[in-house]
Amino acid sequence: MSSPYEVKQNDSVSDDVVWHNSTVSHQDRVNQKQQKPVVLWFTGLSGSGKSTVANAVESKLLSLGKHSYLLDGDNVRHGLNKDLGFSDADRVENIRRIGEVAKLFVDSGSIVLTAFISPFISDRAQARDLMQEGEFLEVFVDTPLEVCEQRDPKGLYKKARAGEIKNFTGIDSTYEAPVNPEIHLETANKSIEACAEYVVEQLAVKGYLTLEGAK
Ligand code: ADX
Repeated sequence: MSSPYEVKQNDSVSDDVVWHNSTVSHQDRVNQKQQKPVVLWFTGLSGSGKSTVANAVESKLLSLGKHSYLLDGDNVRHGLNKDLGFSDADRVENIRRIGEVAKLFVDSGSIVLTAFISPFISDRAQARDLMQEGEFLEVFVDTPLEVCEQRDPKGLYKKARAGEIKNFTGIDSTYEAPVNPEIHLETANKSIEACAEYVVEQLAVKGYLTLEGAK
């Protein structure tokens, strides 16, 4: 059986690079893990709570026996994407790479959580397009700029307002909010725990998992 992840055309820079199909298929990995792989694509301003909520969701998935992996903006920028800054072009490349990495994790049968500002609608759409139907859920961590700025957990808004950081999202760089996210979290009046619970509930409602054994 051909894999949904087979490359249909040569996307490589060289014609001499040829796609190899794996002996172990996507379906084999899914069967072994007994779960429906999906990307939970968290998007929102810096300080909106993406990483915190995604971490809490991942803990819940672990206690449900699910195999998952969290790709976090600040962490990935220490390694894979340490060559990228915060110009529009670098952010586009950041999200392109993360989309590709997320796709590999989905191919492995994992539930992937990504926590990146991912400010541009077109980049998030491109990441979605890499996945099969139903394998991408956009999670809008909808926290108003004023609230993020008040929280300012890393002191970056203060620096951005003082002009010490350029191209800061929400200050002098654009954030394009999702128009129709699969999951919408308004964090301003909701605890982290309540947000994480809501995400897991939504996964159950949408048929990605059952809540037996949930704590
Ligand atoms: S993205 O726009 O390319 O998706 P990403 O999520 O990887 O951003 O990184 C955002 C994190 O980098 C922020 O949470 C913040 O800690 C840090 N950061 C440093 N400089 C900036 C900046 N100019 N704009 C936004 N975030 C920044």
